[in-house]
Amino acid sequence: METQPNSLAARDVAALVHPQTNLKRHRETGPFVIDRASGVWTWDDDGNRLLDAVSGLWCASLGFAPERLAQAAYDQMRKMAYAHLYRHHSHEPAIELAEKLLAIAPANMSKVHFQCTGSEANDVAIKLVWYYHNAIGKPEKRKIISRIGAYHGSSVATVSLSGKSDMHAQFNLPLDGFLHADCPNHYRDGRDGEREEDYAARLAANLDRLIEDEGPDTVAAFFAEPVMGSSGSILPPKTYFEKIQAVLKKHDVLFVADEVICGFGRTGKMWGSETFAIEPDMMSCAKALSAGALPISALLVSDKIHDAMVTQSERTGNFAHGHTYAGHPASAAVALEALKIYEEMDLIAHIGRLGARLAETLAAFAGHPLVGTIDTIGLMAGIELVKDKDSREPFAPEEKIAARVGDASQRHGLIHRAMGNRIAFAPAYVISEEEIGEIGIRLGKALDEVCAEVRQ
Ligand SMILES: Cc1ncc(COP(=O)(O)O)c(C=O)c1O
Repeated sequence: METQPNSLAARDVAALVHPQTNLKRHRETGPFVIDRASGVWTWDDDGNRLLDAVSGLWCASLGFAPERLAQAAYDQMRKMAYAHLYRHHSHEPAIELAEKLLAIAPANMSKVHFQCTGSEANDVAIKLVWYYHNAIGKPEKRKIISRIGAYHGSSVATVSLSGKSDMHAQFNLPLDGFLHADCPNHYRDGRDGEREEDYAARLAANLDRLIEDEGPDTVAAFFAEPVMGSSGSILPPKTYFEKIQAVLKKHDVLFVADEVICGFGRTGKMWGSETFAIEPDMMSCAKALSAGALPISALLVSDKIHDAMVTQSERTGNFAHGHTYAGHPASAAVALEALKIYEEMDLIAHIGRLGARLAETLAAFAGHPLVGTIDTIGLMAGIELVKDKDSREPFAPEEKIAARVGDASQRHGLIHRAMGNRIAFAPAYVISEEEIGEIGIRLGKALDEVCAEVRQ
């Protein structure tokens, strides 16, 4: 890292600890400093312009400098910059946002509980799974199942819930009682000639066996992202959720849908649960809820859960959970404005059009030697990179293939996510068709460059 002593890069290395970053390497390479941003474009501190095709962290759904959201935050902060929701306190932005969320949520959703982050929304979902089972007199039903490769957050409980071994090992996690079922990646794990439906049946049978082995009386809930976003947009195989839900129903296990990435149109319908006919007992959402402009998340609970919560609270006192900034009025005002903009832009039709263009752009790489499979749905996509296209042989983890494509893309002015052997795209909803074309041009250069490097 060559930097001036007082440069932002030098000051960063001297002062900051970065999340999800190799800390030793960071001291050598320094940071990638974003100076300003607008629409889907960001400028680094050397003035280079990059197209961010994953809207920051799947969140800046209305672009990086949305004027109306800034105005909504400003107006609310002038009126009342802070209010909380503890002990019967309330305020209009939170009330109105809860109403708006329920109006667009699946019909069985009954109440909304606000938090600040996706992790917190899932964290309280875990607590509610336990609270609910205590309320209905089944306290021994405590174990929670998620899936290998799933990501549900970084708190102690939600990282235990997540199926990411690298995020467990460093902290002696997961906690007891968090179990991980199969990752539903048909391309990677389907047997030769196995149809998606048969693969889904095999995974459902494995889940059934896992619950039987653990004891159905001890298994409380199953958490799933409709599309596994941060594993690289892994799409469930056909009939997967239908078969999984049948197993859960049989064993009286709750379904919590993590809509933190999939919510608000990302998969082409308002909710990923709608896209895949999931009937959740609770749904967490965040990110596009406020278009990433201010932190806010929400957990929606069904009547069944809420009724039990009220009974339990009557029995035991206050629902003893809360965060100072949960349902913050400025964040709620921004989220309300974001939902209004989605409505005005006729979100679902809009995403249908842009999603078709993104799918067409990426489909052009189907024949590329590095490309194994391309998953697209709504305005999100993932590409699995392979060493050998015919045999589906993967690159070894130490070859860091996705990271290399990510670095090459960045040199060509394109940002996407790289994880394992997959790269992911989730551009802001304000992207133009021409800008989607730019994703294709820049990605093509990056793939060719890395392919030539690999072949050498
Ligand atoms: C599906 C999913 N759930 C939960 C989270 C955690 O959200 P947060 O980073 O806001 O805590 C993420 C973050 O990427 C996510 O993708």
